[in-house]
Amino acid sequence: MKDPVRVAVTGAAGQIGYSLLFRIASGQMLGEDQPVALQLLEITPALDALKGVAMELEDCAFPLLTEIVQTDDPEVAFGDVNYALLVGSRPRSKGMERKDLLEANGAIFTVQGRALSSSAASDVKVLVVGNPANTNALIAMSNAPDVPNDRFTAMTRLDHNRAKAQLAQKTGTSVNDVTKMTIWGNHSATQYPDIFHAEVGGRSAAELVNDQGWLESEFIPTVQQRGAAIIEARGLSSAASAANAAIDHMRDWALGTPDGDWVSMAIPSDGSYGVPEGIISSFPVTCSGGEYSIVQGLEIDEFSQGRIDATVAELQEERDTVAELGLV
Ligand code: NAD
Ligand code: LMR
Repeated sequence: MKDPVRVAVTGAAGQIGYSLLFRIASGQMLGEDQPVALQLLEITPALDALKGVAMELEDCAFPLLTEIVQTDDPEVAFGDVNYALLVGSRPRSKGMERKDLLEANGAIFTVQGRALSSSAASDVKVLVVGNPANTNALIAMSNAPDVPNDRFTAMTRLDHNRAKAQLAQKTGTSVNDVTKMTIWGNHSATQYPDIFHAEVGGRSAAELVNDQGWLESEFIPTVQQRGAAIIEARGLSSAASAANAAIDHMRDWALGTPDGDWVSMAIPSDGSYGVPEGIISSFPVTCSGGEYSIVQGLEIDEFSQGRIDATVAELQEERDTVAELGLV
């Protein structure tokens, strides 16, 4: 058995938390030989609900779960953590403008960025799930001077998994046959799910599909709008699939991506593919030895470039808004 690692989860008494914690504690995120201590953060009014979740975690008698910390203090929650999953965030409510949401959540992510900077372990890896995820990650990163920027990532793995499922359905194959899917840009309705480098059973997905109408009128809008479609159908936003994607993201970052494939992660841009440096944008990446690297050298045609430019422009607008608010 390895030495235990410390994993912080914020918003731990929420919907996603309820699907996420049990899977982390059972070893599905970091491996069945990796003991974990869970450090759970909630706002004060949700601490009772969190206590109930912690009781259920105890009642699972997970062999890998060494400790459960429950707190409303970010400094305690992030104390010595090796992994931090920032899920807790205020969702948009009726009549709320995007700017209001950025402002409301800005307060959460400035505080949490500072607490990560002062309390987390030197090797901490951060995943932001709470929306607007990319820009919340930018805020946390900007407020964490003692954590290297490349440790801040945001989740587009759910979009990536959604795109794989849609492509498998269209081609009458299994998701196991679909590789090299890419989500570019923001986790929002402007994201660009790109099948031009994807493969199905080793063959070019775009050539196999050969249906620009489906691509433009069905595939891209379906993936872009999937979150809203789930809210419409379920009355609540996606939770189990979001938790599953968070597990996938952290597992691949920590343990590596399979040979011959890549995944999508929103990471601080290094300027690759013309995406302005510093914004947190989704790229195709491979992971090895706990580090990610952007897949280089993909040819981007005019159609794809236009879509990438649109989603990157939205990220720049969000960055400008939070800069005006003094959050970054
Ligand atoms: P939820 O409302 O069920 O749970 C959120 C929890 O966060 C609540 O328990 C709340 O008390 C807590 N919280 C609020 N502020 C906090 C703070 N400052 N510190 C700690 N905890 C805090 O919501 P959910 O369904 O679990 O979703 C959480 C977030 O994830 C939302 O912002 C949602 O939009 C987002 N989301 C992102 C993706 C993605 O793909 N990136 C997918 C689905 C949902
Ligand atoms: C999702 O993609 O399911 C969520 O981000 C949707 C949302 O807006 O909360």
